[in-house]
Amino acid sequence: MKNEKIIVLNFGVNYSQLLGRRIREANVYCEILPYSTPVEKILSQEPKGLVLACPPESELGEKATEQKKKVLALNIPVLDDARLNKDTFDIQEGREIIKDFLFNKCNCTGDWEMSSFVEESVKKIKEKAEGKKVLCALSGGVDSSVSAVMVHKAIGKNLTCIFVDHGLLRKNEADQVERIFREKFDLNIIRIDAQDRFLAKLAGVTDPEKKRKIIGEEFIRVFEEEAKKIGAVDFLVQGTIYPDVLESADAEGKMVKSHHNVGGLPENIEFKEILEPLRLLFKDEVRKAGLVLGLPEELVWRQPFPGPGLAVRVIGEVNKEKLDILRDADYIFREEIARVGLDKEYSQYFAILTGMKSTGVRDESRTYEYTVALRAVITKDFMTAEWARIPYDVLDNVSRRIVKEVGQVNRVVYDVTSKPPATIEWE
Ligand code: XMP
Repeated sequence: MKNEKIIVLNFGVNYSQLLGRRIREANVYCEILPYSTPVEKILSQEPKGLVLACPPESELGEKATEQKKKVLALNIPVLDDARLNKDTFDIQEGREIIKDFLFNKCNCTGDWEMSSFVEESVKKIKEKAEGKKVLCALSGGVDSSVSAVMVHKAIGKNLTCIFVDHGLLRKNEADQVERIFREKFDLNIIRIDAQDRFLAKLAGVTDPEKKRKIIGEEFIRVFEEEAKKIGAVDFLVQGTIYPDVLESADAEGKMVKSHHNVGGLPENIEFKEILEPLRLLFKDEVRKAGLVLGLPEELVWRQPFPGPGLAVRVIGEVNKEKLDILRDADYIFREEIARVGLDKEYSQYFAILTGMKSTGVRDESRTYEYTVALRAVITKDFMTAEWARIPYDVLDNVSRRIVKEVGQVNRVVYDVTSKPPATIEWE
């Protein structure tokens, strides 16, 4: 079956991704191309319709005006509606305009489904990589997990995943990742316990950006060492998703920024080509694909977790003792939020081990112990965020449990700052 395809031409507006997502939400496949894409190339994709993500005529340059004329002259339905802008997409009006175009003007049937997309992708990976050696850096995050499982489905044991445990993950997380991939998927996974290496490199370091740099570089070093043992491979898997692809080119199709995971692409690994199984999917679609592939909900709905991990949530110098305190406090917080069913309400929620100690009293003696901060935010794009209004009784439970169950903490505070001016992370 050939999929119906709509092409969105980006004439340099900031809502073209939103447009693309709305079209796919209506179960019609679409791709977003720079406006300067040659007309022949557009035609070769046999689109059922074209949507112009276009500023007003007066703001179009000469080249764009000319291209628009060419596109309008094609014998394909075109949506060029001045009512479409960043604000209309979140309301019914924008959705209605798009649906009317898709189903009434282009006669789309809306039969695009994630299950068939996944099936098709697996088939393509198989054609390309069957019998070849493929290597993947698995972090346990949504993108790398879905990529790994998709490639595994296509080529099985020819895929080797390297999972670097840097000791900066949340409580039980490394074991959970290993268990899921080894036991449930029978994936060829190499887990590297590199805790000591990372902690040694981080000793005495307090500057957040330095921590990030050290972790990024060490990650690549560990990965490269392990990869060397495997020898040359044909493909290296990258969890690039569609927004990365779109944001790396401007409306003219020129490269504007390079994208990378964690600390960049390893340089000393011998591979012929990069395999990017998710490069056409938006984030919510990656989650859907994960579910189709049988990944557990807890992994698919995992909140974003920074590459440098808990190192940027222990303020100041990082060591094993502080990390363990933070892990226990964070676990209690997440457990309580999930227990009252608020886990899907908040975009990100976690504990921070502040560098501050303060006076307290326990069993009638004076204590001088750590202060744990709790942070929970609600956000769409992580560029701005509102602090979450967690019910007082939930906060109360979390606070009581932390000071009772976690050693060396005698005070819990809640962060009531939005972004901006504060960032989501504390470092
Ligand atoms: P901020 O703190 O900048 O965070 O408001 C915005 C989002 O980015 C995540 N974040 C990171 N992710 N490496 C990552 O992979 C990092 O160094 C990093 N710093 C922040 C943060 O968790 C939030 O989702």
